[in-house]
Amino acid sequence: MLEKAVAFSHSLLKKSIIPGDIVIDGTVGNGNDTVLLASLVGKTGTVIGFDIQETAIEKTKQKLLLTGLLPQVELHHASHAQAVDFLPPNKELGGAIYNLGYLPGGDKEITTQKDSTLMSISFLLPRLRIGSLLVVVVYSGHPAGEAEKNALVDYVSQLDQKEYDVLLYQFLNQKNNPPFVLAIERKK
Ligand SMILES: C[S@@+](CC[C@H](N)C(=O)[O-])C[C@H]1O[C@@H](n2cnc3c(N)ncnc32)[C@H](O)[C@@H]1O
Repeated sequence: MLEKAVAFSHSLLKKSIIPGDIVIDGTVGNGNDTVLLASLVGKTGTVIGFDIQETAIEKTKQKLLLTGLLPQVELHHASHAQAVDFLPPNKELGGAIYNLGYLPGGDKEITTQKDSTLMSISFLLPRLRIGSLLVVVVYSGHPAGEAEKNALVDYVSQLDQKEYDVLLYQFLNQKNNPPFVLAIERKK
């Protein structure tokens, strides 16, 4: 009944994104989010994805090829801190997803970091279409994750409520720091 964090993040993206949208995957990883985004934007839309690991980009490219979704996806071997530089001018975003932490099955030392995560999110929020969402799945069960979680929760808690609605979706009785979701809706 209650969706786990990743499933809930996907339910939110399905509400935010419509065919033809331009959307951001801030952390491509194994490409599961990228595949969902590509199917939501359809052939007339664009997913712009970022990862600092070449292996993640290559693996996701293969996944998209196999599913026929590659034409509507741009993958960049770059930090999401630079995401705003890759956006077409004067276009609004239909949504964005960040799935923080390290690549499952990869090097656990290579993780998202609070400064680049905050920079990326703060630059993209004003580019959202009114009524669309930026969604973050937060993992705090590793050292960099704890600092990142604290910085992120501080930052989103202070967003002006006239401009953004901010949701935290979290299970309170689970052991071992399960992931939780932050969702930010642009209101004006
Ligand atoms: C939890 S994984 C993402 C999972 C992915 N969304 C999926 O559906 O499979 C986190 C990814 O973030 C990437 N990453 C870390 N720092 C980054 C940065 N500054 N910019 C973009 N990607 C980054 C890591 O290389 C890793 O692949």
